[in-house]
Amino acid sequence: MPSLKNYPPSHKATADSAKKLRKIAILAGDGIGPEVMTEAKKVLAAVSEKFKIEFELKESLVGGAAIDSFGEALPAETLKICEESDAILFGSVGGEKWNSLPPEKRPEVGALLPLRKHFDLFANIRPAGVLPMLKNSSPLKPSIIGDGFAFTVVRELTGDVYFGEKKSEKDFASDLMIYHRNEVQRIARVAFELARNSRQKVTNVDKANVLATSQFWRSIVEEIHEKEFPEIELDHLYIDNATMQILVRPNDFDIVLAGNLFGDILSDEAAQISGSIGLQASASINGINSRDISGIKRMGLFEPMGGSAPNIAGKGIANPIAQIRCVGMMLEMSFEEGDATSAIENAILKTLENGLRTADIFTGSAGEQKVSTAEMGDSIVKNILA
Ligand code: IPM
Ligand code: MN
Repeated sequence: MPSLKNYPPSHKATADSAKKLRKIAILAGDGIGPEVMTEAKKVLAAVSEKFKIEFELKESLVGGAAIDSFGEALPAETLKICEESDAILFGSVGGEKWNSLPPEKRPEVGALLPLRKHFDLFANIRPAGVLPMLKNSSPLKPSIIGDGFAFTVVRELTGDVYFGEKKSEKDFASDLMIYHRNEVQRIARVAFELARNSRQKVTNVDKANVLATSQFWRSIVEEIHEKEFPEIELDHLYIDNATMQILVRPNDFDIVLAGNLFGDILSDEAAQISGSIGLQASASINGINSRDISGIKRMGLFEPMGGSAPNIAGKGIANPIAQIRCVGMMLEMSFEEGDATSAIENAILKTLENGLRTADIFTGSAGEQKVSTAEMGDSIVKNILA
């Protein structure tokens, strides 16, 4: 993950801010959500102890669980708890049981999209990369993986066809693909800022050979680049080509910038080639510096890239690492506690180095030990406190 440590300087953790109470809304959701959230909460307790950070956790229902109790995926009470919190730790939502509902009422769309819009979480940060000891879990050939890759998809999250006007008539349906200047400017800035703290490169992905929205998008990305970030390398790829290039030369990418729809597609591809979607965390934030969030409350929602995996729910075998990494992203991006984030990431590496594997990343190689969700979480906790 590109480091935001010490950025922006004014948000540096101080002895004072370390004493602040950090309020977190815990929305575990459906499927494996509650199981992996249990491990994330153990990690929060360990971080609290080690780094002397005080957390106040408020749990609330979301998704299918909320539909069953309140008839809607995002009840007012849940939204209120989120509003009163500094960050949202989200599990996963959805399952067979609610699939017959109309799309906008289903757990995924009915909970996630309104949350993103409500808190203006326009920047979705999805780091991808293969860990040295998990290269075998990636579907990519070793010759392509080489020494390993690490890139981050920066996806615009509150515009595009997702939120443009929708029409559904008897003989036609349409979703308006629309971007406003300020929406493109602010997500481009997030991408360039992240590149500054990473390997100084942004790849913009669009479909500017066909779409007016993409031509507009690209011209604004170029303008922000020239005026504000000329030292960062910028190149462009069309979405169709980008999906291929990521598969054949993943090492060439650092920050990959895309609109909502193309970013959705790219981030699934990125998660898959990283080994297991049970490993990848993501952040949805309303800015990374004071310019973006001036006058409004800083907010972040942190959720695993994988879904609720109903097929393995309740068995205690889900990989808790993605949810635990969400805690790491939250500590860095919402609370400027980058040292705690590093401690979590190192503890995960140590656990994997020791051979512990949940079923999704177990290959049967010598030195591997198949473990449960709880055993994986306990080992990470032990390594944080060590
Ligand atoms: C994601 C998901 C969501 C999206 C769905 C569940 C609405 O696929 O977070 O990537 O399309 O944004
Ligand atoms: Mn998606």
